[in-house]
Order: sequence, then C-alpha cells, then structure tokens
Amino acid sequence: MMDAMRAVAYTRYGSPDVLRLVDLPVPEPRPGEVLVKVHAVSLNASDWENLRGRPAYARLGGVFRPRRHVLGSDIAGTVESTGAGVTGFEPGDAVFADILSYLGGFAEYVRVPAKVLAPVPAGMSFVEAAALPQAGAVALDGIREKGQARAGQRVLINGAGGGSGSYAIQLAKLAGAEVTGVDNAEKLDFMRSLGADHVIDYRREDYTARGETYDLILDLAAYRPAAAYARALAPGGRFLYVGGSVRTLARVLLAGPLVGRAGDKKIGLLVVRLGVQHIAPLVEMCSTGRVRTVIDRSYPLGEVPEALRYLGAGHARGKVVITVA
Ligand SMILES: NC(=O)c1ccc[n+]([C@@H]2O[C@H](COP(=O)([O-])OP(=O)(O)OC[C@H]3O[C@@H](n4cnc5c(N)ncnc54)[C@H](OP(=O)(O)O)[C@@H]3O)[C@@H](O)[C@H]2O)c1
Repeated sequence: MMDAMRAVAYTRYGSPDVLRLVDLPVPEPRPGEVLVKVHAVSLNASDWENLRGRPAYARLGGVFRPRRHVLGSDIAGTVESTGAGVTGFEPGDAVFADILSYLGGFAEYVRVPAKVLAPVPAGMSFVEAAALPQAGAVALDGIREKGQARAGQRVLINGAGGGSGSYAIQLAKLAGAEVTGVDNAEKLDFMRSLGADHVIDYRREDYTARGETYDLILDLAAYRPAAAYARALAPGGRFLYVGGSVRTLARVLLAGPLVGRAGDKKIGLLVVRLGVQHIAPLVEMCSTGRVRTVIDRSYPLGEVPEALRYLGAGHARGKVVITVA
C-alpha cells in the first residue's frame, strides 16, 4: 500500500472554492478500527452545511474554523487492513458506512471504527451502497419508523426531489399513502417518476397555505412558523421537522406542542438514527428492487468542488456520488 493518498480538504468555511485536492498520509487503523479503501462516497446536505459553516449548528465541530479538514460521510469501499482487536472483517471485504461523526470520506482511504461498518449486500454496487446511508436513514425513520405512514393516508414531503426525498417518496407509496412531493420546478417530473401523486413547486406556492391538509408532513427544508404547519395538518396528523432553519427548529420545539394541541396534531423534530445498522429494511428493499436508488450524477474525487456546487445550487435529482477508486 502507498504511504500517501489524495484527499479533498479545507481549512476555513466558505464556498466550494476553499476546497483543495491535497496529498495526505494514509491513516493507520488504531485498535478497533478498519482502514477502508474508498470506492464511492455520496454527497449529503450535511457536507454542504459543514463546508459553509451554515446554519449555526454546522459549526459545532469548530466555531471559527473547521476542526476536521476532510468532509465526506457516506462511504462504500473495501477493507484495506484492520487494527488490533478487530474481528469479522478481512482485507478485500466490501463494506459501507455512515461516518458523519468521524468524516474523512473525500479521500482514497479512511480509518473508521469497525462497529459502524456493514457488508455491502451481494449484487449492490459501491455507488448505490454509498448513496444509501444518510438519505436512507432520513427516509426510513421519517416515513416508516417515526412517521408511521399507512395506507390511505395523505403524506406530504417537502424537499422531496433530493437524496432523502427520492427514497421517502418511494417508501410512502409502498406504504399505500397518497403522496405529495414539494420541490423546485426542475424536479416536478422527477418526483412524479418516483411515484408522487401530486407535486408542488415551492417557489410558486406555499404548501401550508393551499387549504389542503395532510396526515403526515416530512419537511426537509422547513422555514415557517409552527402555526403554518398546524394549519396544513389533518386532525391527528404529524409534522416532522428534518432540516431547515434553526429559527424554525426553535419554533417547532417551543410552539409546536401548543399550536398542535387543538386537533391532536403532533409537531416536532425528527431525530434520525444515523448508522447503516438502522437501515437494514431499506437496504433489503433496494437489494430486491422494490426501492430504487437514483444517482443523478457522479464525479471523480478531484471534482468534489464541482459536485458540491451542483448540490448546493439545488440541481440534484436524487443522489450525487463521488467515485474514488
Ligand atoms: N433531523 C436529523 O436528525 C437529520 C439527520 C440527517 C440529515 N438531516 C437533514 O435532512 C435533510 C436531508 O436533505 P437531503 O440530503 O435530501 O438534501 P438534498 O438532496 O439537498 O435535498 C433537499 C431538497 O430540498 C429542496 N429545497 C430547498 N429549499 C426548499 C424549500 N424552501 N422548500 C422546499 N424544498 C426546498 C432542494 O432543492 P433546491 O435547493 O433547488 O430548492 C432539494 O431538492 C437536510 O436538511 C439535513 O440537514 C436531518
């Protein structure tokens, strides 16, 4: 194995222009860790937020400057070597993981705790395995585990044309729900192709002000007061904040329980259980073809800045993946 590897790094928050393709030493796995040769790493909203240092919670890992210099958290690759005490993994094994707590995926090699790794199912490509972890966890928890979408219910997904939404629409349809997808005009046909029964262009229409109500709203881009969400819920309905502004998060947490009380509506935050061990049901559905992973574009490692620019500009339909090896 080589001593040096290529990685895409940054030392200050900013636009994709602050990213540099650099040579770094290949990390040594410590006890309990596995060195993974990265074959593919997918982009997530979290990479975009951590790059820019916005919203405020993206600076938890460094108020003025990022503490971790290599982003990238949904990885798929092969085991290169293992640290002391690691059992169950052999060099060459195909593995994937969500390493949001550790980062470092925009590189040829990354060192990760063995406990976060899972085998890539037979027949699944590295690109598809890299697409699944975070987006899949948001969709699975939001629609099935916490959202508990059921047949006949009306489900609205705001921000449904991106990575998480592309899985969420399909899961809601599989549950038998009537699905409304909200995103920008470029993505309306895409959401329909995934099964959305109705689509709304958020730049033209406010879904909370149309007089329609829903049993479940999964909002990946929430920017409104809690009362607006209460208005868009049917009696007994549930609103789940997944992403959006910190201001709206605060409003949902503080005012949500109050404004939801009339009509028995639940307005709260979705805390996603990250980690591929939690998404086994979705991985199974993808392996058997019941759910499909949509890769909009893939880029080589040296083009991480272009890939992030594309994601950040809101063009991505489904997932954007970096192919490394
Ligand atoms: N709660 C948790 O525990 C947890 C855990 C992980 C991730 N997250 C969050 O989950 C979300 C996952 O997003 P993702 O990976 O699917 O991102 P993505 O691929 O970037 O998709 C987000 C979509 O939302 C659209 N959008 C932006 N502003 C909008 C608005 N005002 N109204 C409606 N749609 C809008 C975007 O399109 P345009 O930009 O073109 O408009 C894009 O299509 C992120 O917000 C992330 O922070 C939460």
